[in-house]
Amino acid sequence: MQQNRSAHDNSGGGAEPDVLPTPTRKGPTVVRRAAGERRRTGGRWRVLGTALALSAVLGAPQVRAAPTALAKADPDCTRAGCHDAYAQAPVLHAPLAQGACDDCHQVTDKDRHRFALTAAPPDLCLRCHDDAADWIATATAKKSMVVTACTLCHDPHSAARPSLLRADPAALCGQCHAEVPQWLGPDRVAHGPLTKDCTTCHGPHGTPLPANLKTAMPELCLGCHASIKEQVGTAKVEHKAWTMDHYCANCHDPHAAKVEHLLRRESASLCLHCHDQEVKSGDTTITNIGALLARTTQHHGPIRDGNCMACHSEVHGGSSERRLKEQFANDFYVSFDASRYALCFLCHEEHVVDDARGAAFTDFRNGDRNLHFMHVNRQSKGRSCRACHDVHASDQPAHLAEKVAFGAGGWQMPLRYQQTATGGTCQPGCHRPQSYDRVTPIPTPVPSPGATADGIAPAAP
Ligand code: HEC
Ligand code: HEC
Ligand code: HEC
Ligand code: HEC
Ligand code: HEC
Ligand code: HEC
Ligand code: HEC
Ligand code: HEC
Ligand code: HEC
Ligand code: HEC
Ligand code: HEC
Repeated sequence: MQQNRSAHDNSGGGAEPDVLPTPTRKGPTVVRRAAGERRRTGGRWRVLGTALALSAVLGAPQVRAAPTALAKADPDCTRAGCHDAYAQAPVLHAPLAQGACDDCHQVTDKDRHRFALTAAPPDLCLRCHDDAADWIATATAKKSMVVTACTLCHDPHSAARPSLLRADPAALCGQCHAEVPQWLGPDRVAHGPLTKDCTTCHGPHGTPLPANLKTAMPELCLGCHASIKEQVGTAKVEHKAWTMDHYCANCHDPHAAKVEHLLRRESASLCLHCHDQEVKSGDTTITNIGALLARTTQHHGPIRDGNCMACHSEVHGGSSERRLKEQFANDFYVSFDASRYALCFLCHEEHVVDDARGAAFTDFRNGDRNLHFMHVNRQSKGRSCRACHDVHASDQPAHLAEKVAFGAGGWQMPLRYQQTATGGTCQPGCHRPQSYDRVTPIPTPVPSPGATADGIAPAAP
C-alpha cells in the first residue's frame, strides 16, 4: 500500500524530505512511549476534544487553540483564496477546526511556502488516536497493510461525510473489493443493509472475529431478523445447517444474490451442497441424496423441478424430524389416517387410498380391487407409502424402491418389482411373489399359515 507522504508545495520545486525525521516542535500530542506502554492521546486534545464536544452540544463558540509555530508563520492558512476549501466542508477534523495545521505540518521553507508532514500516516495519526495501534496489531497481515493507510479512506483535513470518509462506504470499500459493483449490479438483489453501509456488519479497521465482523454469527443476523430468531429459538428440531461453519451464510449470501431470499444457490443445489455426502447425526447416518440422484434415472416430479423445498420447507428448523412441510408417516407399518400422509396429498389425489374398489383412481389394482387401499388403508399393519416408494428417486417405474428399511435391525428388504403393460409383479422379502393385472385380474392367492387377512405376512430376513 502506497502511503501518501507528500507535503504540499505551492511554489513547486525543492528537494526537501517529505517527512521530517523528528518533530521539532514540543507538543503534548506527541507522546513517546517505552516498550509495552500504551500510546496516549495528548492532554491538550483530550481537553479540547471535550471542549469541542461540549461546544457542539451547547452551541457555544468553538475553543481556539493557542497560537502555534505555523500559525505565527502564516496567521490564517484557511483564509479566503488560500486553503479555505478545507474549512468549508461539513465535517472538520478536530485539529483543523482549531486551525492547528502545525499538529501535522512543519514549516520547512517559509519563503517557498513548503510544509512537510511531521510524520507519515499511520504514525502521524497514532499520535492522537491510540486505539488505532490495536487495530493495526490485530488485523490480518494483508489487511493491516490496508489499515495503516489511514488517508486512503480518511481525509486528514475535512470531508463531506461523517468520519471524514473520502467516499461512501460501498464505493470506498469497492476500490479494492471488486465484488462490490457486482453485488450492486442489476442482475442481483442486494441485502438491505448493504446498500447503506458495509460497516453495519464489518469493522473497517478489523476485528478479532472472522471476516472482520462486528458481531459474531449467527447473532449478527438474528439481531435484525426477529422472526427467524423466533423460528430457530422455538424449533423442536433444529437444522444443523445454520449452526455449522458459516452459519446462516451457508445458504444465504450476506451481500447480494441472484436467487430470491438472498440464497446462494437454487433450491436443489443449495441442499445438495451439503447433502451430497452421508451426514452423521447422532447414531444415524443420513442418506447421501446427491449420490442417490446421480445413480438413479427416475426422479420424483418436484425433484426434477429442482425443488426440495416443495416438501422440506422447515429449512431453519421446526417441528418435523425430516423438516417436512406436512405430516408424513415414516414407519413401515402405520395405522391409517389420511392426515398422516398429508405431504403426499398436497399434490396427489387422496383417492389413491380411499376406496376398496374402483378403476379410476390408481393403476395399482388387480381388476378393480385397489391395492393401495388394501395395503395402506387399514388400522392394523397399514403400510406407509415408504414401504414401497422412494420419495426421492429410484430406477423403478412409479418410484418403487429397490430396497426398503424393514424392522429395527436395519434390514434392507428387497422389493424386486417388475412392471408389465397392464400390471406388475413384486417379490418382496415379506411375501411370496404376487402379481396384479388391471385387465385380467389374477386370482387372489391362498393365504399362507400365519398370514394377515389379505394373505400378506412379513417373512424373516
Ligand atoms: C491531522 C493532520 C493534519 C492537519 C491538522 C492538517 N493537515 Fe494538511 N495534510 C495532512 C496529510 C496527512 C497530508 C498528506 C496528503 C494526504 O494524505 O491526503 C496533508 C496535505 C496537505 C496539503 C497538500 C494537498 C493535499 O490536500 O494533499 C495541504 C495544502 C495541506 N495539507 C494544508 C493544510 C492546512 C492549511 C492545514 C491547517 C488548516 C492542514 N493541512 C492541517 C495532514 C494534516
Ligand atoms: C493532533 C491530534 C490528532 C491527529 C494527529 C490526528 N487526529 Fe484525528 N482526531 C483528533 C481529535 C481530537 C478528534 C475528535 C475526537 C473525537 O471526536 O473522539 C479526531 C477525530 C478523527 C476522526 C473522526 C471524525 C468524525 O467526524 O467522526 C477520524 C476519522 C480521524 N480523526 C482520523 C485521523 C487520521 C486518519 C489521522 C492521520 C492522518 C488523524 N486523525 C490524526 C485528533 C487528531
Ligand atoms: C479501509 C478504509 C479505512 C482505513 C484504511 C482506515 N479507516 Fe478509519 N474508518 C473507516 C470507516 C468506514 C469508518 C467509519 C466507522 C464506523 O462507522 O464504524 C472509520 C472510522 C474511524 C474513526 C472514528 C470512529 C472510531 O472507530 O474511533 C477514526 C478515529 C478512524 N477511523 C481513524 C483511522 C486511522 C487512524 C486509520 C489508520 C490507522 C484508519 N482510520 C484507517 C475506514 C477506514
Ligand atoms: C486498499 C484496498 C482495500 C480497501 C479500500 C478495503 N479493503 Fe478490505 N481487504 C483488503 C485486503 C488486501 C484484504 C485481505 C485479503 C486477504 O487476507 O486475503 C481485505 C480483507 C477484507 C475482509 C475479509 C477479512 C477476512 O478475514 O476474510 C473484509 C470483510 C473486508 N476486507 C472488508 C472491507 C470493508 C468493509 C472495507 C471498507 C470500509 C474495505 N474492506 C476496504 C483490501 C482493502
Ligand atoms: C449484513 C451484514 C453485512 C454487510 C452489510 C456486509 N457484509 Fe461483508 N460479510 C458479511 C458476512 C456475514 C461475511 C462472512 C461470510 C461467510 O462466513 O461466508 C462477510 C464477508 C465479507 C468478505 C470476505 C469475503 C467474502 O465475500 O465472503 C468481504 C471482502 C466483505 N464481506 C466485504 C463487504 C463489503 C465491501 C461490504 C459493503 C459493500 C460488506 N461486506 C457488507 C456480512 C456483511
Ligand atoms: C442491520 C440489520 C440487518 C442485519 C444485521 C442483517 N439483515 Fe438481513 N435484511 C435486513 C433488511 C432491512 C432486509 C430487507 C427487508 C426485508 O426483506 O426484510 C433484509 C433482508 C434479508 C433477507 C431477504 C428476505 C426476503 O424475504 O427476501 C435475507 C434472507 C436476510 N436478510 C438474511 C440475513 C442474514 C443471513 C444475515 C446475517 C449475515 C442478515 N440478514 C443480517 C436487515 C438486516
Ligand atoms: C439450509 C439453508 C438455510 C440456512 C442455513 C438458513 N436459511 Fe434462511 N432461508 C433458506 C431458504 C431456502 C429460504 C426461503 C424460504 C421459503 O421459501 O420459504 C430462507 C428464507 C429466509 C428469510 C426470508 C424469509 C422469512 O421467513 O423471513 C430470512 C430473513 C432468512 N432466511 C434468514 C436466515 C437467518 C438469519 C439464518 C441463520 C440463523 C438462515 N436464514 C439460515 C435457507 C436457509
Ligand atoms: C450447510 C450444510 C447443509 C445444508 C446447506 C443443508 N443441510 Fe440439511 N442437514 C445438514 C446436517 C449437518 C444435518 C444433520 C443434522 C441435523 O439433523 O440437523 C442435516 C439434516 C437434514 C435433514 C434431516 C435428516 C434426518 O433424517 O434427520 C433433512 C430432511 C435435511 N437436512 C434437508 C435439507 C434440505 C431440504 C436442504 C436445502 C434447503 C438442506 N438440508 C440443506 C446440513 C445441511
Ligand atoms: C416429494 C417430497 C420430497 C421432496 C421433493 C424431497 N424430499 Fe427429502 N424427504 C422426503 C420425505 C418424505 C423424507 C422422509 C422419508 C425418507 O427418508 O425417505 C425425506 C427425507 C430426506 C432426507 C433424510 C434422509 C435420511 O436418510 O434420513 C434428506 C437428507 C432429504 N430428504 C433431502 C432432500 C433433498 C436434498 C431434496 C431435493 C433434492 C429432497 N429431499 C426432496 C420428501 C421429499
Ligand atoms: C409438490 C408436489 C408433490 C408432492 C408433495 C408429492 N408428489 Fe409425487 N409426484 C409429483 C409430480 C409432479 C409427479 C410426476 C407426475 C408425472 O410425471 O406425470 C409425481 C409422481 C409421483 C409418483 C410416480 C407416478 C408415476 O406414475 O410414475 C409417485 C409414486 C409419487 N409421486 C408418490 C408420492 C408420494 C408417496 C408422496 C408423499 C411422500 C408424494 N408423491 C408427494 C408431485 C408431488
Ligand atoms: C405396497 C406397495 C405400495 C404402497 C404401500 C404404496 N404404493 Fe403407491 N404404488 C405402488 C405401485 C406398485 C404403483 C404402480 C402402479 C402401476 O403403475 O402399475 C404405485 C403407484 C402410485 C402412484 C402413481 C399413480 C397411481 O396410483 O397409479 C402414486 C401417486 C402413488 N403410488 C402414491 C402412493 C402414496 C401416496 C402412498 C402412501 C399413502 C402409496 N402410494 C403407497 C405401490 C405402493
